[in-house]
Amino acid sequence: MKTIFFVLTVLVSCAALYLLEGTNAQAIFFAVLATVLIYLVFGFVQKHRLSKALRSELTKPNIWRRNVVFGGMVTGLALYAGWIANARVRVASMPTYPKQRSLPPVDLKLSAPSLVRKGRTLATPDGPFYFSGTPEARDIAATQTPGQPMVFQGRVVDEQMQPIPEAVIEIWHANGDGDYDISGGNNCRGHQFTDENGCFEFSTVMPMGYGEPTKSITGIIDYRAAHIHVKILTQTGAELTTQVFFPDDPRNPTDMLYDTFKDALFVNVADIDDALYARFDFVL
Ligand SMILES: [Fe+2]
Repeated sequence: MKTIFFVLTVLVSCAALYLLEGTNAQAIFFAVLATVLIYLVFGFVQKHRLSKALRSELTKPNIWRRNVVFGGMVTGLALYAGWIANARVRVASMPTYPKQRSLPPVDLKLSAPSLVRKGRTLATPDGPFYFSGTPEARDIAATQTPGQPMVFQGRVVDEQMQPIPEAVIEIWHANGDGDYDISGGNNCRGHQFTDENGCFEFSTVMPMGYGEPTKSITGIIDYRAAHIHVKILTQTGAELTTQVFFPDDPRNPTDMLYDTFKDALFVNVADIDDALYARFDFVL
């Protein structure tokens, strides 16, 4: 009977994660791992630590009630472990958006100069706030969105610094209060195609970091400096998922990814004619 409930618990966890996250091996693996660990710990505690009275209560013939309650508890914990683990490492593939050429070319002369970096741009995970299916747009922040207006510009180039035209670049970020739009309204979310010089341009607002510098129950410091998430997909199928940061944000040294990116993912920021420009050139 215990084996049946163990298998059922694993199946329910995996099915729920499949519905939530799609076919993600990482999430399923952590859900199964969490289930096995919880069963092992429970078995050990039941055998060695429980009082005689409690042990006899738990081993009463009412197997169904005991196992349903325990199975439900394990399923919940396994789901949580799988979801957290998955959100931290997930890199989803970007959907292939229908190509549109309605947007005009970008004038990079208006922006901050490029910082020259050698080699491919560092990749980072999606984080938990990626939604695919964003609109093609230059202006991605609705009016009244909290945050200082900002133009995020740059180029997509190859390792020889040659422009990559017609690459899809998709971004998403928190607003000036540190909040993501999770309503499905696509505020501060959008994509576009690079022009013939590999350039892109989003008009949006300056994001703010979020979270508290304390450890959660999972031991993760969920504390983020201001950042913009970026996904790029070229016509030849090359993909990059990354995040760019702002050099003056005091939260940077305590950001959960800072040890990974150091200064490799800082945008170059310029204040030109009272307008804020942030530039980053992505190398694929
Ligand atoms: Fe984020």
